[in-house]
Amino acid sequence: MYVLALVTQKGGSGKSTLATGLAVAAMQRGERVALVEADAQGTISKWKDRRENLYPRVACLADPAEIEPLIARLRAEGIWLAIIDTAATNNRLAMRAIANADLSLIPARPSPADIEAAVPTLIAIRRLNRRFAFILNQTPTRGCRLSEAATSLNSLGVLALPFIAQRNDHQDALGAGLGVTEFAPEGKAADEIVALWGWISEHLVGEFDEHGQAAVKNAC
Ligand SMILES: Nc1ncnc2c1ncn2[C@@H]1O[C@H](COP(=O)(O)OP(=O)(O)OP(=O)(O)O)[C@@H](O)[C@H]1O
Ligand SMILES: [Mg+2]
Repeated sequence: MYVLALVTQKGGSGKSTLATGLAVAAMQRGERVALVEADAQGTISKWKDRRENLYPRVACLADPAEIEPLIARLRAEGIWLAIIDTAATNNRLAMRAIANADLSLIPARPSPADIEAAVPTLIAIRRLNRRFAFILNQTPTRGCRLSEAATSLNSLGVLALPFIAQRNDHQDALGAGLGVTEFAPEGKAADEIVALWGWISEHLVGEFDEHGQAAVKNAC
């Protein structure tokens, strides 16, 4: 079983939106997926309450000491991918999620303040010597500011591809209890999430520099 953690102390960067979007995209590729909610805010549970499909399974986690037993239970159930959604703070639960993740994903909006705000999370991940990748989220659909953000993130570590643009489908899917690939399967937001899941799955199961230093060149 592989474990992904969506982490960054910066609020509103898209951790929960990407967690649900990626979970459903992976499920649609035939994978057995569980979402782990490690945020008392409850975005994932509320999304699940609005959802008619029983899957993906959602497990809630409040105590950092429960994370390893939960992962063991999910593995025993035959889950192939667990995606942990964490709160917007570098709390003990988030740190424990990072320590248990095969890959931590750090979403950031393309602004200097958002990128700076991700740095404490990056430092914590590096201290734990764990693999990570940034995701540029809520990017403008056009404009060159993006390349500055991409350059900044590339200089800090690996930047996942593609960038995820600001699109209403993400918000509407979250509100409908759906993954964006269920909500608007033919839309651009769905295309981007499918491609992002492709990038992540390759980096999860493929050969990957343990320190995640392979820079990816992007420019608009
Ligand atoms: N790519 C996107 N396009 C449009 N809206 C988005 C996108 N990503 C996230 N959002 C919206 O931005 C808001 C914040 O996203 P989300 O709740 O996923 O962030 P978060 O990092 O989980 O926040 P928190 O730190 O509070 O848990 C939500 O309204 C969500 O629907
Ligand atoms: Mg959230």
